[in-house]
Amino acid sequence: MNLDIIYNHSSEIMSEIEDKSVNLVVTSPPYNIDIQYGNKTVKGKISESKGVKYNDNLSEEDYRLMLDKVFSECKRVVSDTGSIWINIKNKCKNGIVIPPFWIQDYFQDMYLKNLIVWNFDWGGSTNKRFAPRYEFVFWFVKDKNNYTFNLDDVKVPALNYRPDRYKSQMKNPTDVWKISMVSGNFEERTSHPAQYPEELIERIILSGTNEGDVVLDPFMGSGTTAVVAKKLGRHYLGYETVNEYCQIAHKRISRIKEIQDV
Ligand SMILES: C[S@@+](CC[C@H](N)C(=O)[O-])C[C@H]1O[C@@H](n2cnc3c(N)ncnc32)[C@H](O)[C@@H]1O
Repeated sequence: MNLDIIYNHSSEIMSEIEDKSVNLVVTSPPYNIDIQYGNKTVKGKISESKGVKYNDNLSEEDYRLMLDKVFSECKRVVSDTGSIWINIKNKCKNGIVIPPFWIQDYFQDMYLKNLIVWNFDWGGSTNKRFAPRYEFVFWFVKDKNNYTFNLDDVKVPALNYRPDRYKSQMKNPTDVWKISMVSGNFEERTSHPAQYPEELIERIILSGTNEGDVVLDPFMGSGTTAVVAKKLGRHYLGYETVNEYCQIAHKRISRIKEIQDV
């Protein structure tokens, strides 16, 4: 099986990937929130447009069908000790919040190990409710007693460390992760409208895989998952329907390879 490839077609069929050959899946699916990312609108009309858009407004039925196919393929290719991590946020429709707990319907045959709250400091403002400042990351495993979890690789300094009480100055991170969104002045920023931060994916890949393992992202976007996998000595596989995003991802990955080859 070929490794370190991003296929430029839908991940609804992943015929290039063998059964149980992937150690970890991490992804952020399209949210289907009917927003033309990157557009500025004035009185309902687009006045300014940046970057390439992707189709994010399927009918609810088509959206759920697409996710069903992609997640079925993810479950087929993930190994018995592997994990699937899904980053998704609340929707807000007509001022009403809809949390994404429906995602669990697709993973009834797996086990939810953590529901991570990814908290960040900035985002859109609201005046009729509190400003949203978190997204979820669902972590599912195939075998609830036997899965890769390298806690030592992701421990953080203990703020309340007391030498008389604790053996180590390092502790297990909690399930609330404070990690900045990718802002405009970040070096990793690309023109992709929904890029997630490398730091978020780094903790997931470090804890959930070993060097040389295979990480899959079925919605690769600008290539963040591949970049982090490469940096950490893991292999990547991915799918992305928009060719321009594949090009952005390839550019990012080749920069990592250049640095590693020096
Ligand atoms: C939320 S974005 C992922 C962003 C990515 N995490 C990053 O850091 O750049 C979702 C991506 O999935 C892609 N996409 C949508 N439907 C797809 C499908 N059926 N197969 C593969 N990619 C798809 C979109 O073009 C979009 O780039």
